[in-house]
Amino acid sequence: MRQQIAAANWKMNLTLQQGEQLLNEIIAKPHSLSAHQSAVFAVPFPYLPMAQAKLAGKTNVFVAAQNCSNKKSGAYTGEVSVEILQSVGIQYVVLGHSERREYFLESNQFLAEKLDICLASGMKPIFCCGEPLEIREAGTQNEFVAKQLAESLYHLSAEQLQQVVIAYEPIWAIGTGKTASSAQAQEIHAFIRAALAAKYGAAVADTISILYGGSVKAANAVELFSQPDVDGGLVGGASLIADEFVAIINALK
Ligand code: PGA
Repeated sequence: MRQQIAAANWKMNLTLQQGEQLLNEIIAKPHSLSAHQSAVFAVPFPYLPMAQAKLAGKTNVFVAAQNCSNKKSGAYTGEVSVEILQSVGIQYVVLGHSERREYFLESNQFLAEKLDICLASGMKPIFCCGEPLEIREAGTQNEFVAKQLAESLYHLSAEQLQQVVIAYEPIWAIGTGKTASSAQAQEIHAFIRAALAAKYGAAVADTISILYGGSVKAANAVELFSQPDVDGGLVGGASLIADEFVAIINALK
């Protein structure tokens, strides 16, 4: 079975102390991860060592950065490189979240550079894609997402692609309380997998985890994750509440 992943995206929330307390609460609650399931915590940069230390030794639990530089090293004030992240033990990074695309103007081409730098160093990217409301209303979401995939991913080899986790996040569902229906999620996840299959072959496409993101919560996680091409979720708001996120971990198939 493909890896099923519950990924928390804390975004720019919580103080260090609140983050520590949240992890303590999550660890204390009953949850179990089998070999094909993992939990990932994408926390603000300064909290990475705290989260690493707190989750050390837990099987299938990983800490992620929420972004990284497209440059290897050098005079880029304020940026954080893959090498810096790896030096504090980080193995996953979220790339191309819609908030970074929108507020920091990250383009598909720019994200391709970040993917290259991650994959050259063995860092696993969680690559986000997804359409804004006007594209969904026009019914052209498949074309929109296909372009994101083509421009950021399709220069990768099959081996490189297999290191990437994809997160489909319709922008109209992020932080809005408006979730895509499980049928809408399944439809576009199947489209993404078919697009990957057309480019890389079905055997490769079948191994890629495709997470759904956008107002995932305990109340809808089981239904969303039960869809055959939905391999877990990238969770914002609900990942800040221990009970909610533990229930989402426990909803993984
Ligand atoms: P949300 O955010 O769960 O708060 O909608 C998801 C995300 O942006 O990753």
